[in-house]
Amino acid sequence: MRILVTGGAGFIGSNFVHYIYRERPDWHITVIDKLTYAGNEANLNGLDSSRYAFIKGDICDQETIDAAVSDCDAVIHFAAESHNDNSLHSPWPFVNTNIIGTYQILEAVRKHSKRLHHISTDEVYGDLELDDPNKFTDQTPYNPSSPYSSTKAGSDMLVRAWVRSFCVQATISNCSNNYGPFQHVEKFIPRQVTEILEGRKPKLYGTGENVRDWIHTEDHSSGVLAILEKGKIGETYLIGANGEENNKTVIEMILEIMGKDKNGYDHVNDRPGHDLRYAIDASKLRDELAWKPKYTDFRSGLEATIEWYKENEEWWKPQKNETEEKYKQIGR
Ligand code: NAD
Ligand code: TYD
Repeated sequence: MRILVTGGAGFIGSNFVHYIYRERPDWHITVIDKLTYAGNEANLNGLDSSRYAFIKGDICDQETIDAAVSDCDAVIHFAAESHNDNSLHSPWPFVNTNIIGTYQILEAVRKHSKRLHHISTDEVYGDLELDDPNKFTDQTPYNPSSPYSSTKAGSDMLVRAWVRSFCVQATISNCSNNYGPFQHVEKFIPRQVTEILEGRKPKLYGTGENVRDWIHTEDHSSGVLAILEKGKIGETYLIGANGEENNKTVIEMILEIMGKDKNGYDHVNDRPGHDLRYAIDASKLRDELAWKPKYTDFRSGLEATIEWYKENEEWWKPQKNETEEKYKQIGR
């Protein structure tokens, strides 16, 4: 099996590449990545060139994608602009990469009759009230709030249309918020951990009542592999590990684990249009494909992640100042 992983130098893509390298030793992995601010080839250090290749390229570039896709059996499509705050500030790269890039991937897999798995997010479903007993399922209507989530929703719609109109062999997964090693310091958990490591206070948006459904990125990888190997073409699977926590609780937990006063954080301006709550019902993936997450205790997964950031300062330091400068400009 030869797989092409788009966005494989980013957070979730690189964790997926390491996971597949370990779990499927007879597969060959090619990564294609543009190496935007969020991509880092060093995330893929340690892989043997007999089983792995790297292409620096843009998924919006038709010729590059066509050649890379023609040379593999299956494409796992992670590449995206992925941060909500950036999408509120400059939406165009999101429209371009998430929609046009996915279009180019779809046209290439159609032309070369290749299997595609498209990585999406639970954010396409909009948000839930805090007391809503229903979680997101694959039947929940799309209702995205931000340029990020709306362009991911658009890309999902393209995949569905290409399956129906052109019989493209594709599946889709919509996963909840990931945490783990190699996540860019712009995102919630790494930002707070590295603020504390830098001797500053964590930054909580608004009241912090917003709930995210946390999943360790390795459990996301195992879910994607299950869908790739056993999923039904044309189907959408939601991936989540029952990890709902509000942001205030997570900040307090981080402070406590790092030996600080749990009230030692700053309140900053809220994000415009801030989604209140995400929650995934992953019973389809659990029941039909016998998937289950390994990291069921959020606190211990968080402790391991904090340890990783403590031990890998040389990895995150180069991103830190520029990221905080961007936040300063938008008052967050
Ligand atoms: P990331 O921002 O860490 O990584 C994205 C990667 O894509 C980077 O390596 C970047 O260089 C690359 N990339 C961006 N534009 C490109 C282009 N035009 N051509 C080629 N490569 C390009 O993102 P992530 O958090 O790892 O997310 C990966 C995927 O998972 C995305 O599709 C995202 O929507 C989805 N997702 C993320 C989460 C989450 O919690 N982070 C949750 C659910 C789904
Ligand atoms: P984020 O990691 O940006 O993921 P998403 O917006 O895709 O859910 O943010 C997770 C939550 O944390 C979200 O509710 C916004 C909040 N947040 C903060 O409170 N402080 C921060 O510094 C950041 C980056 C996010």
